[in-house]
Amino acid sequence: MTLWQGRFGEEMAEVVSEFTVSAGFDRVLAVEDLDGSRAHVRGLGRSGILTEHEVEILLAALDQVGEEVAQGRFVFVPEDEDVHTAIERRVTELAGDVGAKLHTGRSRNDQVATDLRVWCRRRLIEAAADVVALQEVLLGRATDAGDAYLPGYTHMQRAQPVLLAHHLLAHAWALARDVDRLIATVERMDVSPLGAGALAGSSLPLDPDYVAETLGFHARFENSLDAVSDRDFVAEALFDIALLGVHLSRMGEEIVLWSTEEFGFCTLADAYATGSSMLPQKKNPDVAELARGKAGRLIGHLTGLLVTLKGLPLSYNRDLQEDKEPLIDAVQQVSVALRALAGLFATIEFHHDRMQAAADGSFAAAVDLAEYLVERGVPFRKAHALVGGLVRDSLERHVPLAELVQAHPDLGDAGAKLLEPGVAVSRRTTPGGAGAAAVAEQVERFTRRLDVDRTRLGVISGEEQPGPHAT
Ligand code: ARG
Repeated sequence: MTLWQGRFGEEMAEVVSEFTVSAGFDRVLAVEDLDGSRAHVRGLGRSGILTEHEVEILLAALDQVGEEVAQGRFVFVPEDEDVHTAIERRVTELAGDVGAKLHTGRSRNDQVATDLRVWCRRRLIEAAADVVALQEVLLGRATDAGDAYLPGYTHMQRAQPVLLAHHLLAHAWALARDVDRLIATVERMDVSPLGAGALAGSSLPLDPDYVAETLGFHARFENSLDAVSDRDFVAEALFDIALLGVHLSRMGEEIVLWSTEEFGFCTLADAYATGSSMLPQKKNPDVAELARGKAGRLIGHLTGLLVTLKGLPLSYNRDLQEDKEPLIDAVQQVSVALRALAGLFATIEFHHDRMQAAADGSFAAAVDLAEYLVERGVPFRKAHALVGGLVRDSLERHVPLAELVQAHPDLGDAGAKLLEPGVAVSRRTTPGGAGAAAVAEQVERFTRRLDVDRTRLGVISGEEQPGPHAT
């Protein structure tokens, strides 16, 4: 049975049902659909459209459906086009005639927009908490890393030594921006569309402010056309997740490189690696590779939705149903990626000796020699040229740089000391720099930032609880 049999003389063609049905994926909105319906029923009661008794019957039926959903007992029937239809059908089975009043003053257009906002808000808060959990692991590993250092790279060429802690925290700070973005998106989407109806509001005395408050929203829509058309919040969520995915992909790529025999900077725990079906010796970084690979899919979801929205006339159009699969998939994929990477980083073994050998065995302290000369009055460009010449000499004549530095009248012993293991990194003392003192301060600042973000998340998840009317 469709929701519109009055107007139609024929059954829907099977292929139309196959083409338009969304119950296969929008069933994840069941909990939020029930929350939305409870608020709507209370609103109808408050406006006198439903009697107290009818409100009780409908709320009891909604609660029972809620239990069926929670226990995995809720049964969709083939005629259920979407989750909204399925729940209304079941409420009607349970509540009898009163069930026919559930949809009073409401359209699936404001209903789905409401459900999706509540769902999105909850899932983004969870995603942000997963990001914080990964940041905690990175912070822990940064603290464990002590004074270990490795070459920092630009253009994938060894550039200057940096503390391993500094490197790990670089990723953690990028993730802090993701948390910030997710929170901002949640705050911006905190507007209830319920009461907008199909597109124009209602002739019945509905109270959109009341239902907004009941659902824990900070505000109601300002314009009913916009309320049912707006999917900015989905696009923003997909952007936040895509960029988060990009950050995870960059972390993944480094682990792929670092775990090669060529780099040898780390070994993955067996539990976070995979083997080969043919090559017995292989240990593969599939988790890191998928962290890298999933970013493509997440970017695709954002692009797909933007193209769907582009050029859509006001107000609701069925195209908008295409918002759900990318959003649901993006949330699921990024959540598992975050948890898998947290496990990977918690258990990975870093080979400090290999990292340090790579940093020491390179020209990564060359700029320190130039800066040593600068401190003695040599203009930087001249100092740069002088040290560059020594590096060229060292390469062409196969003489260690330290020997050439030692022999140079302007550098001598003091210059050669700068090339000793660990010296260059210890000299990166400026705020936010890669040396031990700066990194110790950075660890403190990052720890504070994590505390602040945990509190912010606690506050918005508390606000997310339904308001005082939802007893
Ligand atoms: N499944 C639909 C969606 O996701 C629900 C709204 C249907 N509204 C309508 N007028 N057909 O958008």
